[in-house]
Parts: sequence; C-alpha cells; structure tokens
Amino acid sequence: MALVYVTREIVGDAMGRLRAAHDVVVRGKPEPAQPEELRAAVSDAEGLLCMLTDRVDQELLDAAPRLLAIANYAVGYDNIDLAATTARGIAVGVTPDVLTDATADLAFALLLAAARNLPEAIAVVAAGQWSTWEPTRWLGSDVQGATLGIVGFGRIGRAVARRAEGFDMTVLATHETPLEELLARSDFVTLHCPLTPATRHLIDARALSLMKPTAILVNTARGAIVDQLALGAALRAGTIGGAALDVTDPEPMPPDDPLRGAPNLIVVPHIGSATYTARARMTELAVNNLLAALAGRPMPNPAR
Ligand code: GLV
Ligand code: GLV
Repeated sequence: MALVYVTREIVGDAMGRLRAAHDVVVRGKPEPAQPEELRAAVSDAEGLLCMLTDRVDQELLDAAPRLLAIANYAVGYDNIDLAATTARGIAVGVTPDVLTDATADLAFALLLAAARNLPEAIAVVAAGQWSTWEPTRWLGSDVQGATLGIVGFGRIGRAVARRAEGFDMTVLATHETPLEELLARSDFVTLHCPLTPATRHLIDARALSLMKPTAILVNTARGAIVDQLALGAALRAGTIGGAALDVTDPEPMPPDDPLRGAPNLIVVPHIGSATYTARARMTELAVNNLLAALAGRPMPNPAR
C-alpha cells in the first residue's frame, strides 16, 4: 500500500478502486492548496493526484522525497515541470480523450453565445428590461456557413471541426493553413493547442490585428496562449468583434484585471471538462495511471 494524496474532491466510482489498493488522503477544501500547504501534504506521499490549479515544480518535488507517480486531473500539463519530474524518474499521467467532447461542446457553446450576444440578451430579460420585440436590435453574426479557424488540430480541435460540419462551416485548421492566413480568413477563431513555450502569446497584438473586425476569438485551451492585454486593447478598439474565453491568465481572473469590462467579452470559469460524465471518466483515467505506476507498470496515459 502506498500513500496517495488527492488535492481536491473529485467525482466518480473509480476512487473506490484507488482506496481499495492504497492509503488515500483527499484534501477536503474547495479551494486549491497554497504551495506551502501542498509541500507539507506530500512529504510522505508516493502518489499524487493533482489538479491544473496545483503547481508541480522543483520545490514541490524536493518536499516529496518518496513521490513515484503523479496523475494530473487534466489533459493539459503545463502546471507540471516535466523536466523536473523526468529528472527524478517520477511518472506523470494525464486524462486525454474523455474530455474531448465536453470541451468541444463548450467551445461551440461559447462561439454561439458570442455570435448571438446571449449574455447581454439574458441580462436584459433578467433585469426586467424586455420591453418589446425589436426589429433592429440584437443583430448577431451568422454561424451557419461561416468560416471557422481551428488553431491546434488535436483531439479537441478535430471534435470542434465535426460540430462545425453540422453548421456547414468552412473549416481552416493550422495543420494545413498557415496561422496568418487562417486568422485573416476566419469569422471565428478557436484555440485548441496546448500551452508550451512556442504557443505562449501565440495570439498577440499582431495576430489579433490580422483578424477581421467582426471576428470572434474563442479560447477553451489555456489563457496564456493569448496576450490578454493585447486582447483587451483589440476589443476596446473594435479591431475584432468579440471574444469568448473559458480560460484566462491568471486564473481566476482578478477583480482588477485589465480585460474586465472590455466590450463583447464573455468569460466563463474554466468549465470545458465540467460534465459529470467527463469528470467521472477523468477520475477513472487518473486512477488507472496511479495504479499502474505504483505497481511498477507504465502509465496507460503518460504526459508526453
Ligand atoms: C483542462 O483544462 C484540462 O487540461 O483538462
Ligand atoms: C486534447 O485532448 C487535444 O489533443 O486536443
């Protein structure tokens, strides 16, 4: 039996399999642990099941001398210093595939919500200000037949492309269309690449300046792929039409973030994988990764 520390409560039956095999300690608090608390919590742990809100860096590893296996409860792993875990021979696993459809659904929900001004429309009705049917107000953009640019054509990007087919959209994707051309031609641009040194601020002031003044940017990947200051400036200047974000940099978005209050902006709190099914299956994959590594076998879904 190994000691496994789980940094937040998670859903799904698979936790039962983990508890049957190991000593499992689940942190009971709803907010992420501060680095100091996390370092103390992992001092005896051989397994760690952590969230994208937990930073796994050299300092944390130094505080966890017995650590053998880390299951990240996410498909992305930019919260983990993979060079440091590799140097220690610690296995790192992720949860691909099982959240692909949930995330693609949310990307499309954001795209549609931004195209048709749903947040403002909902707010007007909620405030009791729906006075009449208005022939010239609430004019949004067509999704049917529009051009969709997909930046990052992995599992999630391809799942978004399948949804776009149902709307007869012309799909441009970065595996065959150069980014600059994609940005210039698209009515909607949706981001599905991982955050790496190469994609940090990929969508910067220059990239935004290539987009159509009516185009809408959707980000369900990682906040730092977008230069948020440049995005705020583009929205305020009206050089792009709107943005709908599931992810920001940092998260959560601070009360004084310069992007707050920009026009035609939707922000939701990183809920791409937030369906019960997706999260329960993420638990299954994370547990499978830990059980394998703690038994000396390769993880079925390693980070790479
Ligand atoms: C969520 O953002 C994930 O990477 O799973
Ligand atoms: C993530 O699952 C991706 O490959 O897009």
